[in-house]
Amino acid sequence: MTTSVLITGGAGFIGSHTCAALLSHGYDVLVVDDFSNSTPQVFRRVQELTGRRVGAVYASDICDRRALSAIFDQHRVDAVVHLAARKAVGESTRMPVEYYDTNVGGTTNLLRTMHEHGVHRLVYSSSCSIYGDAGAGAGPLDEATPARPTNPYAASKWVCEQILADVCRRCPEFTVVGLRYFNPVGAHPSGLLGEDARGVPANLMPYLAQVAVGRLARIDVFGDDYATADGTAVRDYIHVMDTAQAHRIALDRIDDGPGMRVYNLGVGRGRSVLEVIEAFGAACGRPIPYRIVARRPGDVPELVADATAVARAWGWHPTRDLAAMCRDAWRFQRLNPNGYVRRQPAKDSRTGVRI
Ligand code: NAD
Ligand code: WQD
Repeated sequence: MTTSVLITGGAGFIGSHTCAALLSHGYDVLVVDDFSNSTPQVFRRVQELTGRRVGAVYASDICDRRALSAIFDQHRVDAVVHLAARKAVGESTRMPVEYYDTNVGGTTNLLRTMHEHGVHRLVYSSSCSIYGDAGAGAGPLDEATPARPTNPYAASKWVCEQILADVCRRCPEFTVVGLRYFNPVGAHPSGLLGEDARGVPANLMPYLAQVAVGRLARIDVFGDDYATADGTAVRDYIHVMDTAQAHRIALDRIDDGPGMRVYNLGVGRGRSVLEVIEAFGAACGRPIPYRIVARRPGDVPELVADATAVARAWGWHPTRDLAAMCRDAWRFQRLNPNGYVRRQPAKDSRTGVRI
């Protein structure tokens, strides 16, 4: 029975929502995160939302074997949700060694530590980027679609999937669920948790949120000459709340069968860049200014999930539409214009003390 879960990367965008989903469903949660792309402040908000605390938070690198081992020595761990990774596609082309080191080295380090401590249940976060360029009009991609990663980030995710599948074949005590997320976006409907992008966001939804709040003037649409309905690229956006719930269900169902199972996590419907811009404008109550520019190198025309396998296996379907994704992302941006930590402290007008 799985009750105590270690989440690597639990302070991040998907991790923080997953912590909240698990705590709300009675799981006990521990986190290891080096805070290279997040802040521990998020856990106060998780507690505020769920009324429960994350049991322990370790500020460690998953590549640090001793630190990882100490966590397993000190706590009962029934299962691990492994989210910690470097995730910026462009950066991965400039720093491939660092990406393989963290994403692949971190994963093998985790596997070894789990094995040494008799822990063999793992939920792994993979990515639609492993499918690479299936081409416009390819239609929804199922899990049997051959992987053809086109950058070191995507390759690192695919290498990990292969390692996990092989480990499961050779060590039957391991049970792994690999979740291939398409484009997780949105935020917790409370406005307390969201995507705390650092610097100028590289991804569409956080960029739109910053245009809407007035920090950026307009969005550049990368290409309108794809062979898609309106010429702009098509993706399968999935609400981060649905993504987080899928992790909870993966843990509920992890003992269903042995070995490694892999599921796409998407809604099964593609949306163009222009459709998302329009939906965001509707959510924030004013049109988002944009201009069409050249394609972004490495972008593919279309990536849409065939998400029927996960529906068949668990009866699970995403419940939130694009309007909700935009509404929630906008609410988080509005309530946290500078993210979690970079808020200017206000001055108490009487005492002059910063609060
Ligand atoms: P994120 O950057 O918000 O979260 C990742 C967390 O891992 C961060 O808190 C970061 O500080 C931590 N981390 C990074 N390197 C670490 C290390 N060496 N040791 C310990 N902690 C470390 O990213 P996210 O969007 O929440 O993504 C979570 C996972 O989902 C990643 O594995 C990513 O590859 C995968 N994924 C994300 C998307 C997406 O669009 N967000 C899509 C597909 C897959
Ligand atoms: C979405 C669409 C852009 C920004 C990334 C990773 C992928 C996975 C999901 C982790 C594209 C267009 C974007 C902008 C734009 N993550 N766009 N102007 O590239 O589909 O996928 O996140 O595993 O690996 O690559 O997401 O949000 O960057 O882009 O026109 O300023 O929006 O061209 O068509 P992407 P994205």
